[in-house]
Amino acid sequence: MFDLPNDEILPLSKEHVFYTWSAQAKVNPIAVQRAKGVHFWDVNDKQYLDFNSMTMCVNIGHGDERVIKAMQDQAADLPYAAPGMTTKIRALASKAVADVTPHQALTKVLFTLGGADANENAIKLARGYTGRYKILTRYRSYHGATAGAMAATGDPRRVIWEPNLMTGIVHFLDPYRYRSTFHRTNPDIPEAEFACDYINHLEEIIQYEGPETIAAILMESVTGTNGIIIPPQGYMQGVRALCDKYGIVMICDEVMSGFGRTGKWFAIEHWDVVPDMITMAKGLTSAYAPLGAVAMKPEIAAAFDETPFESGLTYTSHPISLAAAVANINVMMEDKIVEYAASMGPVLKRMLTDLGEAHPSVGEVRNIGLFGILELVKDRKTKEPMAPWNGSSPEMTALKKYCLDHGLFLYTHWHTVLIIPPLIITEAQLKEGVDILDKALEITDGVVNGN
Ligand SMILES: Cc1ncc(COP(=O)(O)O)c(C=O)c1O
Repeated sequence: MFDLPNDEILPLSKEHVFYTWSAQAKVNPIAVQRAKGVHFWDVNDKQYLDFNSMTMCVNIGHGDERVIKAMQDQAADLPYAAPGMTTKIRALASKAVADVTPHQALTKVLFTLGGADANENAIKLARGYTGRYKILTRYRSYHGATAGAMAATGDPRRVIWEPNLMTGIVHFLDPYRYRSTFHRTNPDIPEAEFACDYINHLEEIIQYEGPETIAAILMESVTGTNGIIIPPQGYMQGVRALCDKYGIVMICDEVMSGFGRTGKWFAIEHWDVVPDMITMAKGLTSAYAPLGAVAMKPEIAAAFDETPFESGLTYTSHPISLAAAVANINVMMEDKIVEYAASMGPVLKRMLTDLGEAHPSVGEVRNIGLFGILELVKDRKTKEPMAPWNGSSPEMTALKKYCLDHGLFLYTHWHTVLIIPPLIITEAQLKEGVDILDKALEITDGVVNGN
């Protein structure tokens, strides 16, 4: 369709492309040519096993013809309609999303372009609904890179943009057991008490801030890039109870944890909690087209029955993206992908546990469904991380390079290695990647204290 020899793709890109999240002089991107299933290939035909679903988003795997065909048909039929109109695909997509929300309780759906603006819109909706302005979010969170979503983000990606961000955000601590500030001297505290301590911490902050000023608590149901932090039993129920007690809107950011990633449609279902809103993107279309959404309870939507919701973008509810979403959800149902991901959770857990037992540089492993992490440390006793907070280290860089050289594409974040493959991955493919990781971990083992 468009001609450019393979060997000219990288030089031409280097000349004209401005890259996100990168120092421009240092970018050296993989020039990708094609992708299928759990693999992709670069322009030299080198094959990579995709252990990060590209950007934690290609949940159903690459190159599914059913989704591609739906997008092609939609493009031929009607590639665009104004956001104030409706279309067959908009009606169907809204229903498809509402139907997979917990207890089908979030019946109204606002489509967005991605995850960041889903969170921005959820914040606007919560502020409009409650008439309050503060939003509570956690320090170990990422909610997106637009100014409002960046303000909500707790991690260092926010700090570099301060102070010119949206106001009204207050951060609190995550129930992160491995490095819990409150439990350094009693790490074996029972799970229920551990959860209770963090609920008490949150309630104390609510009191200090003034409950009557707080519109929403926005949280990743399972924290993604900041550590696959799986809430303890009782925690999410406790947050729900606090929200009910103080009239605060509960928003779950399921941009990364949604659409089967944890073995449920949405991770919050593991704790049988129904939030007031869920924000989503990534797995909503498995990234076949850009799309996000806010699914909300009808009472939130009803607050705007007479008062207009003053927000929207030119590409809101783009039909081609909506066709991708409906086809993607159908694929997930037809192929029972959510159930399959749930069944693969114990398989991944066993493999990660084996890695932990074999390698002294593995401090802890965690996973829920196909959402996994290895925390690498220099010393298991002190838990000194293999790379500092918000930094890298020669060992982490070498580990990542080893994996890439051996055809394993994965995401490393500071001292952690994330394992977030397409949900269709087989046990043999998972083992193949873990075997490469097994060898790569010899690099980090080499700097463990006492080795
Ligand atoms: C939990 C979470 N929320 C929000 C976002 C932002 O989504 P997007 O990049 O589509 O704006 C991300 C992206 O990684 C995410 O992981």
